[in-house]
Amino acid sequence: MDAPDPGRPALLDALAEALRARGLRLSTAESCTGGLIAAACTEQPGSSDWFDRGVVSYSNAAKTELLGVPADLIEAEGAVSEPVARAMAEGVLQRSAADLALAVTGIAGPGGARPGKPVGTVWLAWAWRVAGTPCSAALRLQLPGDRRAVREATRQEALVRALDWAHAQPRPSGEGGGTAPAHATAVVPRPEAPVALLAGRFTAVEQAVWAEALQAELATLDPPWRLVSDPAQGPAEAIRLAFVANPPPGVLAGLPALAAVQSLWAGVDRLLADPSLPAGLPLARMVDPAMSAAMAETALWAVLALQRGFFDYAAQQRAAQWRPLPQRRADETTVLLLGLGQMGRAVACALAPLGHRLLGWRRSAEAPRPAGLPPGLRLQPGEAGLRAALAEADLVLNLLPLTPATQGFFDAARLAQMRPGAALIHLARGAQLVEPDLLAALDTGRLRHAVLDVFATEPLPGDHPFWRHPRVTVLPHVAALTDPRSAARIAAANAQALAEGRPLAHRVDRDRGY
Ligand code: NAP
Ligand code: GLV
Repeated sequence: MDAPDPGRPALLDALAEALRARGLRLSTAESCTGGLIAAACTEQPGSSDWFDRGVVSYSNAAKTELLGVPADLIEAEGAVSEPVARAMAEGVLQRSAADLALAVTGIAGPGGARPGKPVGTVWLAWAWRVAGTPCSAALRLQLPGDRRAVREATRQEALVRALDWAHAQPRPSGEGGGTAPAHATAVVPRPEAPVALLAGRFTAVEQAVWAEALQAELATLDPPWRLVSDPAQGPAEAIRLAFVANPPPGVLAGLPALAAVQSLWAGVDRLLADPSLPAGLPLARMVDPAMSAAMAETALWAVLALQRGFFDYAAQQRAAQWRPLPQRRADETTVLLLGLGQMGRAVACALAPLGHRLLGWRRSAEAPRPAGLPPGLRLQPGEAGLRAALAEADLVLNLLPLTPATQGFFDAARLAQMRPGAALIHLARGAQLVEPDLLAALDTGRLRHAVLDVFATEPLPGDHPFWRHPRVTVLPHVAALTDPRSAARIAAANAQALAEGRPLAHRVDRDRGY
């Protein structure tokens, strides 16, 4: 991912500050990260004050030659092992003027994988001296994602632990800090970081992108969080928050410390349909201006294409037909918006400057006008208001959440209330549309066209009539994708809220269902 890494400066600034304030120096020994940690440290302004030496040792021979790791130890334990990680850390501590040595050895890519040591197996080790005697500590990680994600997460983990070690050292004046444990063995010298789980129906690439984006944001929190992609890595008892994207049912059951769920999707209908979702567990949904902007773009495209006949021209092109159609003006086109929430408002605001006549439906006449709607949008309250608006609108654009009240919303009766020759733009959830009823309305020509982004079954089966229907335009559920580049920060802000005991932003009302 090319997105900037907001975790890097914050974490490194903090580490530099902590080491400098105590007059301490750091050295590193890296194999799987290939010098990434040392490079990040030396890029910090003034790092010569606190960074001493970075040794890169991809090969076993280099571990022996540059760090003094005994060849027979590597032979016996394997290069990715606790004893070798410790020996690397102790080796660089002895060979530099460092007070703390940080070592990593791991398997970042498929070429290095071994039985019992899959990609993402990493050993981190630290070495330091207490009263002149070297001490070390080590930790095994199992990190998700591809080479890049593993390297990045290793870097973050290593720096976070170096920072914790530094904070535990006394300042020269004697104030603050503590002393490092003299006989730390396999124990990590820090209180455990809060842990978040990432779970969803992701491709491997999506998983890696989300893991990288979230880990970078979580590392900037106070305290930093650790991200895992499998409850077994947690451990399960430590997982406090789950970031989810429609995970398979049951994933969130059996996590005793789980205190909240942050959906990476705007709609949470599938999550709420999981019977194993613990009752009363606070749930936040994704609200991201970037996502609303994407939805507004999709809506603008569909509205303009329908108003101006661009879908008809696409069909004419396939038939090599040159036939100009009447040019309909925006102010001759009435658009009815169903759902006036984050998405509906963004769409209304994007359409308003173009001059379409805008109608919006809400259930109650008593409720105040929702904030953020363009002044020209006319509200149509209640069932009677909906009927009148359906009869008037040329284009009906659906952005309602899927709830029991909106399940099967567009059935034969509702479609029959639409103005003859009108078109449907359906961007919310497949289960709101009775597909055979829409096909019937399109086949008779009563409805002119349908732009469909969501379906009863997704992916849309290859033999579904929508694929080849001349009056249907199909999108593969992409009207507004969550963008990790902006959404990771929004999700991480709720981790911070949870850590501080503040209410979550964008909490779902589980009784209402959205
Ligand atoms: P939101 O902010 O929660 O807004 C929901 C709106 O729907 C509110 O105005 C709400 O009215 C209204 N509403 C709910 N139930 C209703 C009912 N029975 N009758 C009339 N109005 C009702 O949600 P959002 O962020 O705008 O997202 C809406 C939906 O878009 C999501 O649930 C998701 O399904 C879909 N979505 C699709 C994509 C995609 O790529 N296709 C992307 C993002 C979202 P009140 O103000 O009265 O509560
Ligand atoms: C997409 O459909 C979402 O709900 O985010």
